[in-house]
Amino acid sequence: MNLPALLQCILLELLTVNCQQLLMQGRIVGGYAPAPHSIKYIVSIQSTTGQHFCGGTLINKYWVLTAAHCNIGAERTMIVAGDYSLSMYEGTEQFLRPHLLIPHPKYNSTTNNADIMLIKLKAPAFLNSYVSIAPLPRQGSSVAEGRVCRVSGWGYTSSSGGQIPSTLHTVKLPIVSTSKCNSTDSFNGNITANMICAGYSTGGKDACRGDSGGPLVCEGRVYGVVSWGNGCADAKYPGVYTSVSKFRKWIDNTIYSFYGRCLTN
Ligand SMILES: *[C@@H]1O[C@H](CO)[C@@H](O)[C@H](O)[C@H]1NC(C)=O
Ligand SMILES: *[C@@H]1O[C@H](CO)[C@@H](O)[C@H](O)[C@H]1NC(C)=O
Ligand SMILES: *[C@@H]1O[C@H](CO)[C@@H](O)[C@H](O)[C@H]1NC(C)=O
Repeated sequence: MNLPALLQCILLELLTVNCQQLLMQGRIVGGYAPAPHSIKYIVSIQSTTGQHFCGGTLINKYWVLTAAHCNIGAERTMIVAGDYSLSMYEGTEQFLRPHLLIPHPKYNSTTNNADIMLIKLKAPAFLNSYVSIAPLPRQGSSVAEGRVCRVSGWGYTSSSGGQIPSTLHTVKLPIVSTSKCNSTDSFNGNITANMICAGYSTGGKDACRGDSGGPLVCEGRVYGVVSWGNGCADAKYPGVYTSVSKFRKWIDNTIYSFYGRCLTN
């Protein structure tokens, strides 16, 4: 075996491990496959070898919003917009290379706080009948407890592992109050002000492994990014999402500062 091939193997090996860890952390169970291409703002984040490991949202032609824990490095990452079935080439896919990954500077992988990341694309996505952008909530806005939101992704359809489904899945879930989610009966103090929770008190419906980074959409806006949980669809533990409205300023500042720099260059 020649050296470049060996190096590639080592990289692939590292990547596989990374992908496994990501899938473990990620966390749709109890949902259904929506009509093809009816959810156009979601992207699949894949390794350069084509393995799906996280979801994301197109928020602008040049920018994708996802979770900081989906960061495996720009070189190893590929973004696919306009996808529905991961296992089939449908002719609607746009393969987009990232230029920059910008995880939130305060992201803490121990506490999962500030689990949010922006991805700047090398070339803009082409908006058409398969690819669209999703609006964000205003800084500091909130969604009321019980309000029903939608989470989508290509993650596991069963908490006991199982298969990564090849088609996109989606499920509707109610918002759970932070006080309930942070209580001793649930996440026992591990919920920060930068997180929101969603799920049924009876369990059975949730985001799961491989859904990480994907959008939780309420009232037509991306209020949450799939972040973490305890198992999937467990009655005691709702899914935990990064609260996007807490980061709207950071998102705008990051995007605008980038364009500012671009213009003066
Ligand atoms: C992450 O949070 C833990 C617990 O609050 C803290 O001990 C640790 O220093 C933090 N890590 C970073 C990198 O900020
Ligand atoms: C809360 O976080 C601590 C420290 O990371 C962990 O040991 C504990 O299991 C967590 N509890 C719950 C209910 O998530
Ligand atoms: C969750 O509970 C912990 C421990 O009581 C507390 O420090 C933290 O501020 C609470 N989170 C929120 C968002 O209130």
